[in-house]
Amino acid sequence: MSILDLFRLDGRHAVVTGAAQGIGFEIARGLAEAGARVTIADLNPDVGHDAARSIGAAFEPLNVTDPAAATALAAKLGGADILVNNAGIVRNTPAEDTPDDDWTAVMRVNLDGVFWCCRAFGQHMLAQGRGSIVSTASMSGLISNHPQPQAAYNASKAGVIHLTRSLAGEWASRGVRVNCVAPGYTATPLTKRGLETPEWRETWLKETPMGRLAEPAEIAPAVLYLASDAASFVTGHALVVDGGYTCW
Ligand SMILES: NC(=O)c1ccc[n+]([C@@H]2O[C@H](COP(=O)([O-])OP(=O)(O)OC[C@H]3O[C@@H](n4cnc5c(N)ncnc54)[C@H](O)[C@@H]3O)[C@@H](O)[C@H]2O)c1
Repeated sequence: MSILDLFRLDGRHAVVTGAAQGIGFEIARGLAEAGARVTIADLNPDVGHDAARSIGAAFEPLNVTDPAAATALAAKLGGADILVNNAGIVRNTPAEDTPDDDWTAVMRVNLDGVFWCCRAFGQHMLAQGRGSIVSTASMSGLISNHPQPQAAYNASKAGVIHLTRSLAGEWASRGVRVNCVAPGYTATPLTKRGLETPEWRETWLKETPMGRLAEPAEIAPAVLYLASDAASFVTGHALVVDGGYTCW
């Protein structure tokens, strides 16, 4: 077998949340190219249906903040071989002025949502004795960004990284690997406001050793690696893809 075969996902079903656009869409596209049957599960059916059609994937509406919906989707699909928890949101409010709803909204999508989907699909994976989960965390789970304030986001992503380790430890002996990627600044609708704010943009570029943002397609190969048999001895890991941001 060629080493390249380890990256193939033929015969596997991958569910990618928050994949109607941005990083998630490129992940879905990459996994489909590697041979997986892909289901995009997203809050936004308007964009999601077209996105799925464009890469030969299926679309399922899902709000990851709803644990019953995650459980129902996993049951409807009969589980999955690969789950990518990618849905995420950000709120840029100074910590001292953070409205209750902002804090809760970020935690519900970025951390609770990851857990509900891990639990729902993890049950099926454990029952079948194999599976691979990859979540999109962030470098914000390792450092605290500036100049923009985003305490809830940073805390939620640190939570994803540690949840990854916790589930990896619990499920390793039962054939289920759990990892995450930690991207740096990536050009998507999520970072549009920051790029349009000169002070943020300048700081982001200055503090990234590579001097630029990532394209969403530059995150997808890291997810493919972790999702595939190429990472068969890797679990509980946070793979940083940040152009060197966390070096400084
Ligand atoms: N863009 C960056 O710089 C960056 C850096 C590090 C990590 N990330 C993370 O990458 C992931 C994707 O970010 P992006 O930049 O592509 O964002 P994006 O805003 O372009 O896309 C997010 C997607 O998630 C979906 N979504 C939002 N809430 C949802 C919910 N409750 N249920 C289901 N789907 C939901 C949206 O409909 C959208 O399709 C997020 O977890 C984000 O935190 C982004």
